[in-house]
Amino acid sequence: MKRGLFITFEGTEGAGKSTHIRLLAERLRQLGRTVRELREPGGTPLGEEIRHLLKHHPAGRGMTPETELLLMNASRAQLVREVIRPALDAGEVVLCDRFFDSTVAYQGDGRGLDLKLVESVIAAAVGETRPDLTLLLHVPLSVSESRRLSRQKSQSAPADRFEESDRAFFERVERGFQAIATTEPKRVLVIEASRDIESIAADIWSHVEPLFKNGHAGE
Ligand code: TMP
Repeated sequence: MKRGLFITFEGTEGAGKSTHIRLLAERLRQLGRTVRELREPGGTPLGEEIRHLLKHHPAGRGMTPETELLLMNASRAQLVREVIRPALDAGEVVLCDRFFDSTVAYQGDGRGLDLKLVESVIAAAVGETRPDLTLLLHVPLSVSESRRLSRQKSQSAPADRFEESDRAFFERVERGFQAIATTEPKRVLVIEASRDIESIAADIWSHVEPLFKNGHAGE
């Protein structure tokens, strides 16, 4: 059996990653593919607990950037071994809402941690398990900001440590993502995500479809 296909979606908050993961998953399932939809941090029972600590738990208020880096990658180490590797070995398509590029952009560029340290912690978490393709959904900062603020205002949304960060933080994160796309143009494709949903989905499909024709993804 051939190895499956590992696609990650990246971008700042409010870029529409979850919508496009859902649409791509539906399309692939209609073609008979087995698709795994995952998110980071999280995606396993242990990872979801870590996610709660990272985003919502009051004890996370004074979290240091180093702790944040390690917790993100603790969740990731579990997800890679418990879910992603077995799924890829079984020939599945794995779609993941964020992966290690978010760590480089948020903990590296956003929090200002040394990029060599960030890379070495990521390497311990993922080993050889790296995405075949990364779709970086880009929206202008003003769009991402207004979506973030309207989410914060909604009564049902719990307080989120990341969403409360200031504009300068998100500017650094955005620059971090753009730098990754420039450094790794083969793996990371920038998708302009401030267009209508159908155009974005068609753009994404035009990049994903050839991977199946090139014998990448197993059956
Ligand atoms: P989200 O699932 O709603 O995007 O929330 C996840 C948050 O965690 C988001 O603000 C980005 C952040 N994050 C990091 O800072 N580093 C990481 O490695 C990952 C995966 C997410």
